[in-house]
Amino acid sequence: MTSEVTGSSSSQVWVLNGVNLGRLGKRQPEIYGSTSHQQLVDRLLMAGQDLGLAVAVRQSDSEREMIEWLHQAADQHLPVVINPGAWSHYSLALADAAREIDLLVEVHLSNIYARESFRSHSVISPVAKGVISGLGIAGYEAALAYVATCLNARSGADDS
Ligand code: DQA
Repeated sequence: MTSEVTGSSSSQVWVLNGVNLGRLGKRQPEIYGSTSHQQLVDRLLMAGQDLGLAVAVRQSDSEREMIEWLHQAADQHLPVVINPGAWSHYSLALADAAREIDLLVEVHLSNIYARESFRSHSVISPVAKGVISGLGIAGYEAALAYVATCLNARSGADDS
């Protein structure tokens, strides 16, 4: 599933949500909140508009599809905000694809360090620029704000 606001390629960012995140709002709301994936998308597209970013939000339960999106983002040098869901904890294939992204921010709705011990380890974190965990949807918004800061700094450097 893909939702996006179009814009110049220099301001594009992809938000990639992995396995089971399409179930947001229904799945363990006491942990992941009552906001649906569509409501998350709406909030992130609005946050993107405020930040001057053309945000595309994609969700898939297919690891292959997620890896294809990472390859496309790498080829287009697009920054990526990713919540890999449970893949975070074991998918070396995803980590290898994520390694190619120039600017990658890993987000988790829940605090993965305060839950079952297997969740404390993410194979994606070593290839991410940074990780935001436990802030709910605000974590995605913080990640987008960070990406906007980086892109602005980059375009300022290009102008000078
Ligand atoms: C999650 C945390 C993962 O451990 C879990 O498997 C998810 C969601 C989060 O956003 O908190 O599916 O990535």
